[in-house]
Amino acid sequence: ACIRTFLDRLGFMEVETPILTKSTPEGARDYLVPSRVNRGMFYALPQSPQLFKQLLMVAGFDRYYQIVRCFRDEDLRSDRQPEFTQVDLEMAFVQENDVMGVFEEMMRHLFEEILDVRIPSPIARLTYHEAMARFGTDRPDMRFNMELIDLSAMAAQSDFKVFKGAIETGGSVKALCVKGGAQAYSRKSLDELASVAQNAGAKGLAWVKVNDGGKWQSSIAKFFSEDDKNGINKEMGAVAGDLILIVADQMNIVNEALCALRLKVAKQQELIRSGEYAFVWITEFPLLEYDEEAKRFAAVHHPFTSPFEEDLDRLDKEPLNVRARAYDLVLNGSEIGGGSIRIHRTDLQEKIFHTLGIGSREAQSKFGFLLDALKYGAPPHGGMALGFDRLVAIMTGAASIREVIAFPKTTSAACLLSEAPSRVDSAQLKELGLQVAPELLLES
Ligand code: AMO
Ligand code: AMP
Repeated sequence: ACIRTFLDRLGFMEVETPILTKSTPEGARDYLVPSRVNRGMFYALPQSPQLFKQLLMVAGFDRYYQIVRCFRDEDLRSDRQPEFTQVDLEMAFVQENDVMGVFEEMMRHLFEEILDVRIPSPIARLTYHEAMARFGTDRPDMRFNMELIDLSAMAAQSDFKVFKGAIETGGSVKALCVKGGAQAYSRKSLDELASVAQNAGAKGLAWVKVNDGGKWQSSIAKFFSEDDKNGINKEMGAVAGDLILIVADQMNIVNEALCALRLKVAKQQELIRSGEYAFVWITEFPLLEYDEEAKRFAAVHHPFTSPFEEDLDRLDKEPLNVRARAYDLVLNGSEIGGGSIRIHRTDLQEKIFHTLGIGSREAQSKFGFLLDALKYGAPPHGGMALGFDRLVAIMTGAASIREVIAFPKTTSAACLLSEAPSRVDSAQLKELGLQVAPELLLES
């Protein structure tokens, strides 16, 4: 009700969009529904109302919103359910700041009304690159500091072959400084930290306890000169009593391992105060990523996201360096919302499909209705969707979104109460023109 009143006041119109629809590409698998009237054909449940809300913009509704159920068949985790709720909105004639502004105001309003908590204005922003460099992730928990520091330059000159080798093969060496950690971490607890790093794919974890006078207590001390050690202490801002944790590997593994360590240490050292809410916007995401399995480029956000105008000439030569006009809102290390400014020109949309390896026939059959609409002239538009369940979980201090959803599903996507999914009568299948593979009938 609080959200509805807020958006109504700003002139947003609530529109419901179909649940029995066609696939929307948000990166997950679709839930399919067989059609009885058109046997052999299927509806897809919406992963989001993305295409419909863009059509509404073309049709002249310039401020749309919907509190809407979305369906995604993906691996479930504590912050993911197969069906969840978005507060979805779209606006015409806007830039990033307009959409982000509405969202910030909405958050401020919600937190004041419901929790009596004031949110700083404006909410801090980090580019994707800054976030990755300083926190090793695109959803940093900003409730505590302890940033990642790049030691690659120093590592390249050291005699330690693990560090030197990582740099020579194009990787990097980065580190965390745990204030007062030298005492707190025993051999055993350092081994535990090493296994956190290993779970993230790192081959090992190097640690240094900094003693009086900046002296090192560490298994890698012998590889470094006094100058090197002092240089690293200085770079890390480490003083006597601190613990330095270092990982050397390819950049993505280094980031992942240190991000996991950062969160683990924060929990152990109780750096996170309860009742604290730290928001941050992440901007300038890459437009594309390379999908190793499918051997082609994929959209980081979705295929309708607009690239930066000044990056367009990179689209052919260095597509991975094209930035997207996309933004995510992160709260306490959780991605609670995301959106973008959309492509509103047919030629650019076709070019992006081409880069994504989607042929014109495939594009027409999948998104023809959107492409046709763009041809008639679409206003520049953009929007965003809030993961409502995730927000509520954080606001109530719940450990999982399962705790804030009535009748949630288990990690195997089953409802324990109704026992869904379940088998159906053969008569019902016949009507739909479907057959269950014989080997599946033998099970259970
Ligand atoms: P996106 O895919 O980023 O964007 O989704 C928006 C937000 O929805 C939440 N979310 C989920 N919550 C619970 N369970 C899930 N399985 C799940 N998947 C996503 C997240 C996420 O930030 N159409 C675009 C929005 C846009 O561009 O306007 C979209 O759906 O909090
Ligand atoms: P080694 O010389 O391989 O015995 O390693 C010496 C120290 O470096 C050990 O404490 C290892 O845990 C650590 N180490 C090994 N590989 C890495 C790595 N990729 N990054 C950081 N430290 C590592």
